[in-house]
Amino acid sequence: MNNLTKHTPVMLTESINALAIEKNGIYVDATFGFGGHSKSILNKLGKAGKLYALDKDASVIKIAEQEFIHDKRFTLKHGCFSSLESLSKEWGIHGSVNGILFDLGVSSEHLDNPERGFSFMRKGPIDMRFDQSSGISANKWLATASEDLISKTIRKYGEERYAKRIAKRIVLQRGKEKINTTDDLVQIINKAIPKNETKKHNATRTFQAIRIYINQELEILRNTLESTYNILAPKGRLVLITYHSLEERVIKDFLTLTDKSLSAPKDLPLSNQFLTKLFKTINKSIKPTSKEIESNIRSRSAKLNILEKCNEIDS
Ligand SMILES: C[S@@+](CC[C@H](N)C(=O)[O-])C[C@H]1O[C@@H](n2cnc3c(N)ncnc32)[C@H](O)[C@@H]1O
Repeated sequence: MNNLTKHTPVMLTESINALAIEKNGIYVDATFGFGGHSKSILNKLGKAGKLYALDKDASVIKIAEQEFIHDKRFTLKHGCFSSLESLSKEWGIHGSVNGILFDLGVSSEHLDNPERGFSFMRKGPIDMRFDQSSGISANKWLATASEDLISKTIRKYGEERYAKRIAKRIVLQRGKEKINTTDDLVQIINKAIPKNETKKHNATRTFQAIRIYINQELEILRNTLESTYNILAPKGRLVLITYHSLEERVIKDFLTLTDKSLSAPKDLPLSNQFLTKLFKTINKSIKPTSKEIESNIRSRSAKLNILEKCNEIDS
């Protein structure tokens, strides 16, 4: 069985319900992956409905696109969701989008394919880029970054208390020989951590941190969220599936910022009529059922956030 056939989309029913799909509406799947969520959105759309999908990883797109490309209601593009505002203009849907779905983070292909270097469980080159056609690989970064930057990155994006020790070991080791594989890095982390983690693998936090840094995940999410107000139609929805507390924090900060629109930076897309809220939260974040977690372990840390664009009248 390949990754596509065994792929189970996370919080599928909940996220599709959250989009409150209108038959003839316009939707964006900002993180297409294997198209699990896209498929369900298309099933709910009528003939005049439209779905636009994006993924930063060209090789992941290739795995699933065949199933979709003949559907005239569907458009798929390789790209980063940071380009969503310009793409929505190019597609002629700016200001008319009824819902945008973000299923953040990595796909099963990233974790299961050792060549991508995302998993500390599989030996391979430490690449960790979603888009292998641009940016620098984690391998290169680990070979050149300063000890201070490595330490700060592991601390900030991994919330790893042994970040300093791990960074020191990395720099020490790379002075002796090149750190080539995920296995090399795991060994370094194991040596740097004085006491084994009980609940998680010792390398979980460091791998997460490097991945977030290499792909600039949080900055891109933050900036993209700020651009969504103008992309959405009135009462349009943002549906976000997050997998760790740092992504949740970006959403909370975004809500705080858009709640206090009067004091928000000038470059935020605000006009005077929106004096209080730009978005309202629909529900508190929802967690997967224990049944889903049992059948799909990758859903265990997921949380679903639903935001709705406020009309002038709501604000
Ligand atoms: C959890 S998977 C999505 C799975 C998908 N919902 C499904 O059911 O098949 C996340 C996807 O988002 C993509 N991704 C991550 N950051 C991105 C970004 N900034 N722009 C576009 N795609 C991104 C990754 O390449 C990955 O394929």
